[in-house]
Amino acid sequence: VNRLTPHNLSVARIDAEAIFRGSTLESMNFLNEVLGRYPDAISFAAGRPPDQFIFTERVPDWLRRYVDYRAELGSRGRPTALREIGQYADTSGIIQALVARYLEVDGEGVVEPRDCVMTNGFQEALLVHLMRLARHNGAVITLDPTYVGLTGAAMAAGVPVYAVRGAASPAEAIEAGATAAKRDGHAMTAAYVMPDFDNPTGRTLDISQRSDILDVARRQDVIILEDAAYRAFAYDAARAPTLLSLDRDGRVVYLGTFSKMFLPGVRVGFAAGLPAGRKAVADVVALKSFASVTTSPIAQAIVGGFLVDIDFRVLEWNAPRIAFCRANRDAMLDALQTHLGAVDSISWAKPAGGFFIVIRLPFAFDAADASDVAERFGVIVTPMTFFSPSGAGRHEIRLAFSNVSVAAIREGVERLAAYLTGRLTQRGADR
Ligand SMILES: Cc1ncc(COP(=O)(O)O)c(C=O)c1O
Repeated sequence: VNRLTPHNLSVARIDAEAIFRGSTLESMNFLNEVLGRYPDAISFAAGRPPDQFIFTERVPDWLRRYVDYRAELGSRGRPTALREIGQYADTSGIIQALVARYLEVDGEGVVEPRDCVMTNGFQEALLVHLMRLARHNGAVITLDPTYVGLTGAAMAAGVPVYAVRGAASPAEAIEAGATAAKRDGHAMTAAYVMPDFDNPTGRTLDISQRSDILDVARRQDVIILEDAAYRAFAYDAARAPTLLSLDRDGRVVYLGTFSKMFLPGVRVGFAAGLPAGRKAVADVVALKSFASVTTSPIAQAIVGGFLVDIDFRVLEWNAPRIAFCRANRDAMLDALQTHLGAVDSISWAKPAGGFFIVIRLPFAFDAADASDVAERFGVIVTPMTFFSPSGAGRHEIRLAFSNVSVAAIREGVERLAAYLTGRLTQRGADR
């Protein structure tokens, strides 16, 4: 269903079944297939943290650090601490107090440990909140294009997605989505928002856009699911406050992860905050208990030891990764300027953080084109339509710069530019 307004705003309602059969899964399979078929191509596809900073060898030290810390908690002693982290543990987690401390130290927001739930990565935190939504005949609103993890989790939870595009602001998008969801009879709505360094668009919201989102959420009775995955990757100015810290009436749940600034392989994330009261937190914990019993206490202990070890200063810890990714961003912007700066019809914006640059083209770029550019030019990029449940973004491609070398960035952008300018010349000739 497409509802068009005078501003070109459209709300597409996509049910879980359509997502399952639709483009989201196909896109991801396609990308994996292209990556497999051209293993030597330069890939700007994966939004992974840089390999150089995957310090798995330090895991035993972090684990030990946590055991020492826990042994002292209530004078348990080491044998008890060791047994506890190998046993079944509380579904809500064992390191919420440490996470709450980090959120406060880093200025992310103030939450009580009992309002935090440790999860298997960000993804499970999102999933259990969507499962709760499903039990209340709910719907989730998102800006379109959006993170595939959102559409995927909505599908898995059986929640319809209201994908909004063409809005003048995120608040307007949420308003339109909430109005449509209500009209369709949904009893509860949540809006998924990534205020900092959005994947896939690279967009960052300023403080007034953030307050507007909270105003709309209050007016329309919408819960906000704040995705903070890239928060620790700011390259220029100071970061704007989180929605969590601006929230005055318990509408925001902050979904965090240790994947990007620590280790994706540890699979530890969390939900923090009180969306709609303590009963909601209890419901989420109950749902999680059926989904995964608990988040590995051993994995939580690794994260806990890490937090204690860095004195809860995650942003400071992340400085070398920030420097690496900022240099990569700048190298990519430079290369784009060098090879495409003279082409008026191709544009891009400088992202203030995160892992992605989006390029706007004067022609459509789809899966077949991605395959073509990989085969003939040896560079892998992602069509923006892969991130759109409604097929938006046909004239855009997403480039990830986080997990490549500067040399690969220079070479890859030159190759991509050769392909793109070739297409422009061909279009000129076709005319
Ligand atoms: C937008 C977004 N949110 C969250 C995550 C992190 O997910 P997880 O913690 O499950 O690894 C990612 C990673 O790709 C992401 O791009």
